[in-house]
Amino acid sequence: MTNKYMYFIANWKMFGGLNSLNSLHKIVKFFKTFKKNKSIKIIYCPPNILIRPMSKKLKNSKIEVGAQNCHENDTYGAFTGSVNSMMLKNVGAKYVIIGHSENRQSGENDRLINLKIKSALNSGLKVIFCIGETLKEKRKKITKKVLNLQLRKGLNKIKNNRNIIIAYEPVWSIGTGLIPKSTDLSDTIDFIKSKKKKNKVLYGGSVNPKNIIQLRSIDNIDGFLVGGASQDAKKFIDIIKKSFN
Ligand code: PGA
Repeated sequence: MTNKYMYFIANWKMFGGLNSLNSLHKIVKFFKTFKKNKSIKIIYCPPNILIRPMSKKLKNSKIEVGAQNCHENDTYGAFTGSVNSMMLKNVGAKYVIIGHSENRQSGENDRLINLKIKSALNSGLKVIFCIGETLKEKRKKITKKVLNLQLRKGLNKIKNNRNIIIAYEPVWSIGTGLIPKSTDLSDTIDFIKSKKKKNKVLYGGSVNPKNIIQLRSIDNIDGFLVGGASQDAKKFIDIIKKSFN
């Protein structure tokens, strides 16, 4: 990434309905008046069915919308239940999360993730590429080896990295309330940046309005991917505000 933005990405996972969009005015209002608004990017990744109505609600707000996954094929096809990157772009998505551990756990491997990233880039979407080690791998002290492999395989034969944001999400910290020790996290982010010099690197995993105070002190992090806490507009706003205090 060549720009200077701090990213705040909301991953709504399989939560939310049309009524959840009612709270978006809070974030729109906050963002308009927030002094740092020129240096941050806020991106909401709701379930696919909400991409269109959410994009409409956020029109002119400078808050962008993304998806949480896509099919590896960027053309139409007989894939019941699937949605491809071109279709997501068509309904207003600018970004797509790929390689999230919840999808890796249900069978996505690095090769498939690589195909999905290529298809998303082809369709003109920006990619939020998730990597992270499991607790077992952390205990075995092979975190860097795992991350290196995920980066190498996931980004295999992708020459133009400009539209890829990397999100480091330790699997053991997602939805558990646990976050890595600051020194470990800073070291891991540095490691990822040493491998991928041009990419922004975000942290994700149990980010909340309390632990953001600790996380914001790690200065090599380019932003946060927030799951649970992002479904509550007040908490998400709090996280953003406190990141700059
Ligand atoms: P969490 O999820 O903030 O609820 O831990 C993060 C993520 O899965 O992206």
